[in-house]
Amino acid sequence: MTDRAPLCLECVSADDLAGDGDWWQIYDSSFPDDEREPRAVILGSLRAGTGLAVRTRQGDQVVGLATVHLLYQPAAVFLVYLAVAAEQRGRKIGGEVLEYAWEAGTRRLAEQGRTATGLVWEVDRPDLAPTSQDEVIRERRIAFFQRQGGTLLSRPYVQPALRAGRPVPMHLMVRPAPGNPVPGPETTEALVRAIYHEKYGRANGIPEALLAELLRG
Ligand SMILES: CC(C)(COP(=O)(O)OP(=O)(O)OC[C@H]1O[C@@H](n2cnc3c(N)ncnc32)[C@H](O)[C@@H]1OP(=O)(O)O)[C@@H](O)C(=O)NCCC(=O)NCCS
Repeated sequence: MTDRAPLCLECVSADDLAGDGDWWQIYDSSFPDDEREPRAVILGSLRAGTGLAVRTRQGDQVVGLATVHLLYQPAAVFLVYLAVAAEQRGRKIGGEVLEYAWEAGTRRLAEQGRTATGLVWEVDRPDLAPTSQDEVIRERRIAFFQRQGGTLLSRPYVQPALRAGRPVPMHLMVRPAPGNPVPGPETTEALVRAIYHEKYGRANGIPEALLAELLRG
């Protein structure tokens, strides 16, 4: 990276993001249809102050993105999306975007008098990959997140259906804030409830009855 332009990372407003075709191009091409929430949900979270969107530029090119949702009970930063432009992957940009998203989320929570207990995110399960090639990509993605300090939680987890479709079985990963332990079963349960109700219920508009049913397993 020494011979490259430095990365410029920033949180962007809803209006700025709405018109940034390069950001949305990376978003659309990095995630499968059933794991991509509608643009209006991302923009709505920014306007409501519960979400942040990170844009990463190198020179005049957008090379990476992240979105986070701020959880309150318990206070935590939910990393909803993280992606690097396909042609820029493997150059250690992803870790820098993740770090910036964590710091921005922590800062925003602190402004509201809350202390983030950690960073939490969802990952696709390698054992459910449709192809062996996809299984390898999912394993490498988990290894990438482990290199960033993440731990896989053993609690079974499903991502509620983001569009018409079925819920997607996934794993949850966490990275506790410095000095905090990896969450035990009780904190993990509280985190899942926060993700379901604060993010998927309130921000995505998924009916509470559906979420309650998923929580019951
Ligand atoms: C996961 C991701 C953000 C990592 O960013 P990055 O800048 O490439 O990260 P690094 O250079 O530090 O690490 C590279 C790792 O990313 C993954 N990776 C690299 N190139 C990749 C590619 N072309 N396709 C898929 N994954 C790739 C691998 O895990 C790789 O690990 P390796 O050492 O085994 O090759 C990036 O690969 C990406 O945007 N993937 C698609 C979107 C995604 O899966 N996001 C995470 C779930 S929200």
